Formats: sequence, structure tokens, C-alpha cells
Amino acid sequence: MERKTVSIVGSGNWGSAIAKILGKNVVERKEKFNPEVKMYMYEEMIDGRKLTEIVNTEHENIKYLPGIKLPENVVAVPDLLEATREADILVFVLPHQYVHKICSTLKNNIKQGTVAVSLIKGFSIHEDGVIIPMSKVIGEDLGIPCAALSGANLATEVAQEQFCESTIGCEDDQMGQLLKELFETPYFRVAVVSDRQTVEACGALKNIVGIGAGIVDGLGFGDNTKAAVIRLGLMEMIKATEMFIPEMKVTTFFESCGIADLVTTCHGGRNRLLGESVIKSDKTIKQLEKELMKGQSFQGPLIAREIYTMLEKKNMTDKFPLFTAIHKICIREMDPKEFISCLRNHPEHL
Ligand code: NAD
Ligand code: 13P
Repeated sequence: MERKTVSIVGSGNWGSAIAKILGKNVVERKEKFNPEVKMYMYEEMIDGRKLTEIVNTEHENIKYLPGIKLPENVVAVPDLLEATREADILVFVLPHQYVHKICSTLKNNIKQGTVAVSLIKGFSIHEDGVIIPMSKVIGEDLGIPCAALSGANLATEVAQEQFCESTIGCEDDQMGQLLKELFETPYFRVAVVSDRQTVEACGALKNIVGIGAGIVDGLGFGDNTKAAVIRLGLMEMIKATEMFIPEMKVTTFFESCGIADLVTTCHGGRNRLLGESVIKSDKTIKQLEKELMKGQSFQGPLIAREIYTMLEKKNMTDKFPLFTAIHKICIREMDPKEFISCLRNHPEHL
């Protein structure tokens, strides 16, 4: 089999952590993969220096993953087409709002036979309310097969090589196994399932629940209340997934991409921090993102808005009171103190 060249599209917190894994794996599995990994980096200046230049000389992404050394065979490239021209496997790992634009540049400019995998936790929603997983957006925009990888994977912990699990959703067995070989390490264990769309739905929807966990933290409630948010959030995640993906398998929620990712996000995620901060200050989400995230982005508020818009169109907000309340608290349309009564009166209790 010809060796595969891997390129990464994105270089934020998760993109850089995954670059560390891929850089090492391609060298260790050199019979399968070419040893250089190009990483497309949205260029920016840090104290008068280009971030790509810093990464390529100091082998550290000092803005998005400070304190972690990247393998020297990971090369940051500011030109998208140069970064991806030779790729057989494209690893998409960037906030979902940038994907369409990136794909429009890539369209007709990638090698024949290239495949992709999306590590993005978000989705695209059509005006008619139909939800499109990011792997489908990428697959259709580029006309290539696209799998998904998602799990309980806080980037900094993964970069510190703390043990965790992840899930690949891929309909094609052979491609799923190739991706497993590309991503798996002794501290990053990967399971492959065929239910790709549910893998992605879990990853996107848990971002909303993570904000809810932060809201109860901010209101001063303890672990029992947070557990109720996690459980009710999980029920809404399953109900929403059943609505969008009739063929979904509930068992996928027991993989790392499901309940495990929900738990980790509700304890240590950026979206949890956002929920807590929304309670403790009266700043807007944009201001909080700027102050707290140092360039990283909260995906939860955007996804909460997208889901709310879709539910409103379908007259179904009353069936998803947790998702609805979280969105309304984020946009300051609901008093956060009402959040507990929303939990108390949840349809799961009726
Ligand atoms: P991030 O939030 O750290 O960084 C934002 C990134 O967006 C930066 O790389 C920045 O350069 C880039 N960017 C800014 N403007 C851009 C533009 N106009 N065009 C293209 N890129 C632009 O990103 P991340 O943490 O790597 O998250 C990427 C995806 O991975 C998200 O869907 C996220 O939910 C998911 N994810 C994140 C984690 C985590 O712990 N951070 C873990 C698993 C999955
Ligand atoms: P946050 O974006 O809330 O930090 O979640 C990261 C994540 O997806 C962990 O698996």
C-alpha cells in the first residue's frame, strides 16, 4: 500500500493537541504514513512575529496550546492550498463557522482519492431547519468521503498525555481502521463505530449542556444539581438526535463521544466556564470570549442559537426546555434564576 500523506486543517487548541499525536504516529507507523504533517494555520502576529514562524522554530503553539512541544515534523503553513495539496488524509479541526469558506477554497484543489475526517463539534443548519453534520458538509463540498472523530478529549489533557478515549464514526470499515491507526496511542484509545452522524450530534449538542452545567455552578448549586443538568441534557440530546437522524443508535451515546464527552465538558470544558461567567457578570458572550479565551472560541452559544432557531420553526421549544433556557440565558432574555424552575418542570418529570 502506498504511504499516505496527512494534512491538518486548523491549528487551535484541539488542532495543536492532535498535531502532537499525528506528528508522532506518522513517524512510528512509517510503513503506512509519510513522515511530514503539514498543518494549515490561520496566520496571526504575536508580538511582531508570525505564529507560523514561532511554531516552526520553537515547535510550540504559544497562543493556542502553550507549554506543549510539538514534533518537529509538524510544519505550520499559512497557505491553505500549500498545506493540503499533497494530502491523502485531511484532518479538519477548526471552529465550525469557518468550514464553508475553507471548503470553497479547497474545492477542486485536492488530490484525487483524498479522504477526510472531521474533529469539529458543531453542525450546519439549513434554512428549512435541517441539520447537517460537519462531515457531510465537508464530504459534499469537496466530493470526498469524510468520517468523524469525537470524544471526551479536553485538548490540554490530551496534549499532556493523560489517558482518555475517543470515537471514530465511519461507515467504511477499511477507512475506519486506517484512521484508528493514524490517531490511536497508548493514552488515546479509539473505538470505531459506523454510526457517524450520532457521533457528531453528540459532540455538537453537549456544548449546549456544558453551558447549563456552568450556569448551575455560577448560581452556587452543587454536584447533585449538576448531575440533573447532565441527565436532562442527555435526554434532550437523545431526543434531538432521534429527530434529526431517525436511523441513530442510542448505544452510540455510551461511547466516548456520548456520555463521557458530556461529563468532561460539564466539568472542565470552555462552555462550562462560559455558563458560570454569564451568571457572574453582565458582559455579552462576545466580551466574555475575548476576555477569557485568548483567541479560542466557545462553540456552545452558537450551537444553542442554531438549535433554538430550528426548534422555534418546528414549534418544539417546549419539548426542549433546557436547550431553550440555555440559549435565552446566553442572550440575556431569561433571568438565570429561572433555570432551576425550568429543571423542576422539565417534561421528563411529568
Ligand atoms: P480554538 O477555539 O482553539 O481556536 C480557534 C481557531 O480558529 C484558531 O486556530 C484560529 O486561528 C482559528 N481562526 C480564527 N479565525 C479564523 C478564520 N477566519 N478562518 C479560519 N480559522 C480561523 O479551536 P479548537 O479548540 O482547535 O476547536 C476546533 C474544533 O474542535 C471545535 O469544533 C471544537 O468544539 C472541537 N474540539 C475542541 C476541543 C478542545 O478541548 N479545545 C476538544 C475536542 C474538540
Ligand atoms: P469545550 O469546547 O467546552 O472546552 O469542550 C471541549 C471538548 O469537546 C472536550 O471533549
